[in-house]
Formats: sequence, structure tokens, C-alpha cells
Amino acid sequence: MEDRIEVKIAPNPKKVAKAAAKLIFKLITESKQKHFNIALSGGTTPSLLYRRLVKKFQNQIPWHIVHFWWGDERMVDSASPDSNFHMVWQSMLSKVPVDKAQIHTIEGGTNNDEAEALRYAAEIEQFVPIKNQLPCFDLILLGLGEDGHTASIFPDTLNLMESSSICAVVEHPVTAQKRITLTGKIINNASNILFLTTGESKAVVVSNIMNSRESAREYPAYYILPDHGKMVWIIDEAASAKI
Ligand code: 6PG
Repeated sequence: MEDRIEVKIAPNPKKVAKAAAKLIFKLITESKQKHFNIALSGGTTPSLLYRRLVKKFQNQIPWHIVHFWWGDERMVDSASPDSNFHMVWQSMLSKVPVDKAQIHTIEGGTNNDEAEALRYAAEIEQFVPIKNQLPCFDLILLGLGEDGHTASIFPDTLNLMESSSICAVVEHPVTAQKRITLTGKIINNASNILFLTTGESKAVVVSNIMNSRESAREYPAYYILPDHGKMVWIIDEAASAKI
């Protein structure tokens, strides 16, 4: 595998979160930029990670430089337990010294999803520095679904990997829940991509991706490869069992 891609295996989800928190702390503190733009993800392991960042690094992270974005959001009210914003707020943002202006949410409770996708894209374009003609996040956090989805790019919307829009409205293929997601080119243009994957249920998908099997070609996650940045996968033993 190319040296821009690193795969780390940790014993369990807690250790995955610990390793991820350490890496994020390092990236933020070593950043020489005025702002550090991080796109967060939903999911179970990220919530452990956000709690870990608070517990271990609360007093060491220069919070004032960090700007928080979302790689995807479920189109529900921000007070809903389903909201990725809500999860991040509960687990991290409500506990650390960040200003409202540093929190760039996708308005899940809107009644016009398409307009919200355009508004969010415009906010990204305005604020996130451009590299290779596209917004370049310092770090994008990703999870992996059992169907090979990542962010909210599902196998039935694989075309979003090549979309020229910054974000798009999609429907969850099973629940039909509406979501807004960053598209593939924006994800691949990040300086750092961090994939967190845990649990036995992900073992087959992880193995198909890592071994470039034919079946992986329908997974959006298979096409996540940084154009110029670095990508780190942190996987627990259960999810890596079939590699
Ligand atoms: C979401 C996500 C999604 C998630 C994966 C993995 O909002 O649902 O951003 O892409 O990361 O589905 O989720 P788990 O870590 O909970 O398995």
C-alpha cells in the first residue's frame, strides 16, 4: 500500500478512540495554520473519541483555532438523538471553550434540504482554504457502514464520488431518512482522512476493501483515497479479523 495510507489495529473500540484522539491532538497542535478545519462524523466510535478528546486533552488543545464541520448530517431537528450535531454537542462541544462562530452545522431541521445543501456548500467555500481548486479540510473523520458506505455516500449513490458539487442531499437506502453529505472529491482533497472502524459486523467489508476484492467496487468507502493528503485507518481487532 502507498505510504500515504496507514492501517493501525487496536484491541477494542476504546483503544481505537484513544489512538484517534492522540492523532487528532497531534495534528491540531502541529498545525501552523490560523484555523484547523475538521469535518466530524456520526457513529458509535466517534462518540467515544469525542469524549476522549475532552477527558484527556481538554486543557491542551488550542480550541480557539479549531473549526468544526460535519461530513454528513441526518435531516432531523438538532435536538434529536439522531442528529450528528446533537451527538457531538453532548459528547464534546458543550464541554469545551469554543465560540459559536467555530461551529459550522448543517441545519438538519430545515424544510428545504436542497437549499440547505447549497447554503452549507457556500459556507465551506467561503471559509475552508482552497487547494487544487477545491476546499481542503485539514481533517475529515469517517466511519464505515456494513454496506460499504461512508459519510452518507451509499452504494446506490456511488456517483457522488465523482460529483462536482461540494455536498449533496441523499436518502438512506433502507430507512429513506434524508441526509446531507460531503461528496467524494471533497473528502479525497482533505489533508488528512481518519477512518474509524470497529466491530465484528464490519469485518467482511474491511477485508474486501483491504484486499481490493471485486465486491469492494460497489462500496463508496473503497474509493476514498487522498489525492495529496494522508489517510489513516484505525480498526479494532474484531473488524480486522478477516483481513
Ligand atoms: C452517520 C455516519 C456514517 C457512520 C457509519 C459507521 O452519520 O451515520 O457518519 O457514515 O460513520 O455508518 O457508523 P458506526 O461507527 O456507528 O458503525
